[in-house]
Amino acid sequence: NAFDFGMIGLGVMGRNLLLNMADHGFSVIGFDKDAAKNAALESSASAGTTVKGVGELAQMIQLLQRPRKVMMLVPAGQPVDDVIASLLPLLDEGDVVIDGGNSHYTDTLRRVKYLRDKNIHFMGIGVSGGEKGARTGPSIMPGGDQEAYQNVRPMLEAIAAKVNGTPCVAYLGREGAGHYVKMVHNGIEYAIMQLISECYALLKSAGATNAQLHEVFRQWNEGDLQSFLVEITSEIFLQKDEKSGADLVDVISDKAGSKGTGKWTSQDSMELPVAVPVIDTAVAMRTLSGYKEEREAAAQIYGDESKSILTLDELLPLVHDGLLFSTILAYAQGLAMLFQASKDLAMEIPLPEVVSVWRGGCIIRSSLLEVFTTAYQQSPELSNILLNQDVAALVKSKEENMRALVTFAANSGTAAAGHMSALAYFDAYRTGRMPTNLIQAQRDYFGAHTYQRIDIPGTFHTEWGQQ
Ligand code: 6PG
Repeated sequence: NAFDFGMIGLGVMGRNLLLNMADHGFSVIGFDKDAAKNAALESSASAGTTVKGVGELAQMIQLLQRPRKVMMLVPAGQPVDDVIASLLPLLDEGDVVIDGGNSHYTDTLRRVKYLRDKNIHFMGIGVSGGEKGARTGPSIMPGGDQEAYQNVRPMLEAIAAKVNGTPCVAYLGREGAGHYVKMVHNGIEYAIMQLISECYALLKSAGATNAQLHEVFRQWNEGDLQSFLVEITSEIFLQKDEKSGADLVDVISDKAGSKGTGKWTSQDSMELPVAVPVIDTAVAMRTLSGYKEEREAAAQIYGDESKSILTLDELLPLVHDGLLFSTILAYAQGLAMLFQASKDLAMEIPLPEVVSVWRGGCIIRSSLLEVFTTAYQQSPELSNILLNQDVAALVKSKEENMRALVTFAANSGTAAAGHMSALAYFDAYRTGRMPTNLIQAQRDYFGAHTYQRIDIPGTFHTEWGQQ
């Protein structure tokens, strides 16, 4: 009567994933040093399921069926290495160890190699969907060892979210690919959240109340903007503060937190390099949100009012279409990054599977992912989804309102950096000849960096300014 699966770290994510597994008929055991967490695990198990919590790692490892399958859900960084160090003397060759947290993929790569030498299979797996998703069906992004994946596949498929019966989990590539895909997922998550917050500001500038905002997002969620983030945004505007009775959103500080995955996406995009300016902008705006006192001082100097030149009814279709346009651009940039990283880092990330896995359970799930899934089915090697005909038709249908929205934002003085950067990227991307020929001339002028010509092959340098 050995257990099927073990979990190290029984915080909300670890506990709920384990309970989800138990609900699907697997016998599960969890380890946490905190006795209260072990008790919470056992007491929240559904009737008839086999769930045990223990306070000794060695005890859990002993009670697992071999080859053992162990997942850890502990904070990224040193805690993961600490868990590996304490696990190693307890494991046998062929056991599978999974890191289900938001680890940086380079750490995962290092751990895969370290444990491979010891014949332990190590997998980095991205898990998205928050607390509720973990219990009822997350989106799961596994990468690494194919053989190890086959060992845990039945369990992951059982617990994953389902879209039309298809589990939102698939093997997403070699070595650190699972965590790489999850990192980019989070970059896109940052971008879409930034875009939605800009819509909130733009609509408020035209006088929208929280009750109206609730209704607007509720309706959008029933159309082509249908998505988890739009849905929860609608619900947020309804929430009352228990203390004051005010709308809760109005009493929340505007300093936004972050745990680093958005920043990693931007940093890594520059290493490749791939341009992901909507994600970069989202990271920058969270950073700027922390500069509260300086912003307040600047508001005294420059004024912080935004003046709407449109009525709410006139503005609504522009914001709707602008959000759809920019959201497509955010996905396009993230997916283009995965395309390039897959090649450059030899991860063999299957993009058709990635968008399919993202259709359910994760924070960035949306009806747009159906469009992208079809696009990749048509051409799996698409370097950028903007080159797909169906996506292009959708983008073009929103372009006019998108331009009107950005014009409105500029004229009303409302910060809409995400939307503006989406449009600027779009205009640069659809340009066969960028003005960067001038940059090449300048580089050659002051630094003799040389340039290529459009009419004659070769490398050229000019003694500039001597005519
Ligand atoms: C998910 C989320 C999840 C978590 C992020 C939030 O997919 O379920 O992305 O991983 O909420 O860590 O990140 P920030 O704290 O950086 O916003």
